[in-house]
Amino acid sequence: MEQKPIAELMNLSGKTAIITGGAMGIGYAIATRLAEAGANVLIADRDEEKAAMAAAALNERGWKASSTVADVSDESQVTAMVARAVAGFGSLDILVNNAGIYPTKLVLESTKEDFEKVIHVNLMGAFFAAKAAAGAMIAQGAGGKIINITSIDALHPSSAGLAFYDASKHGLWGFTKNLALELAPHGITVNAIAPGGVLTPGTGLGAPADPAIAKITAAFTAKIPMHRMADADEIGKVALFLASDLSSYMTGSQVVVDGGTLLA
Ligand SMILES: NC(=O)c1ccc[n+]([C@@H]2O[C@H](COP(=O)([O-])OP(=O)(O)OC[C@H]3O[C@@H](n4cnc5c(N)ncnc54)[C@H](O)[C@@H]3O)[C@@H](O)[C@H]2O)c1
Repeated sequence: MEQKPIAELMNLSGKTAIITGGAMGIGYAIATRLAEAGANVLIADRDEEKAAMAAAALNERGWKASSTVADVSDESQVTAMVARAVAGFGSLDILVNNAGIYPTKLVLESTKEDFEKVIHVNLMGAFFAAKAAAGAMIAQGAGGKIINITSIDALHPSSAGLAFYDASKHGLWGFTKNLALELAPHGITVNAIAPGGVLTPGTGLGAPADPAIAKITAAFTAKIPMHRMADADEIGKVALFLASDLSSYMTGSQVVVDGGTLLA
């Protein structure tokens, strides 16, 4: 097999990537690295204004990006998101299922609706997007890359109050492995990234919006062997690896990026 030069391995020119929940946090960090590598990036988010601002920030750096509003828990919006990527950029090669929510509530205080909300965004949303994206990728016949952002909570619970989140992320990891099996014959790889604690707006980067989240974040940091939360770009760099030819023979894998948290 011919050995490609490193620069070529990471070159995503001519490829199109959708990043769900790409307006901020981990999703925006991933969008930034993929755009820097040359990909056309479609930032899809339920927050239309923030998504547009994020795409504009990438354009200002000379990279190709646009935005669309899409709530991943709504199948029709997700189908429209995929159609927009193909119509706007001519193809779809990379899907990053990043959109996710992590409300904290004890099971004994929760309702069926609380459970459904988390599952609909974190798990069903990934299904809607993967199904639509894989359909487009198979039609193109050039393979593709699907990356699901799980969590170390897909492997081990981090704290009480996240039972529905943990159920969704364990589910997303199972979904990743089985979809990898299904799509391998089409040259589409499906992998997951399991971040530990990452500094994002959702986990209270800057002023924590939710005191419950801030408490979890502080307890988390104390237990991390590397004694710090990750910068979102530390997930972006691993996403670039999984989106590029550097990971050409990987499918059905979950890359843990947690500063050693699961070792402790
Ligand atoms: N931050 C962490 O410590 C951490 C750790 C492990 C896993 N994760 C996972 O990483 C992903 C991103 O987390 P984050 O911390 O960057 O979150 P965040 O809250 O900072 O940002 C999430 C983004 O997703 C968007 N979003 C939320 N629900 C959506 C929906 N239904 N449809 C479309 N967009 C939606 C939001 O508008 C926002 O732009 C999530 O899946 C989360 O579970 C985060």
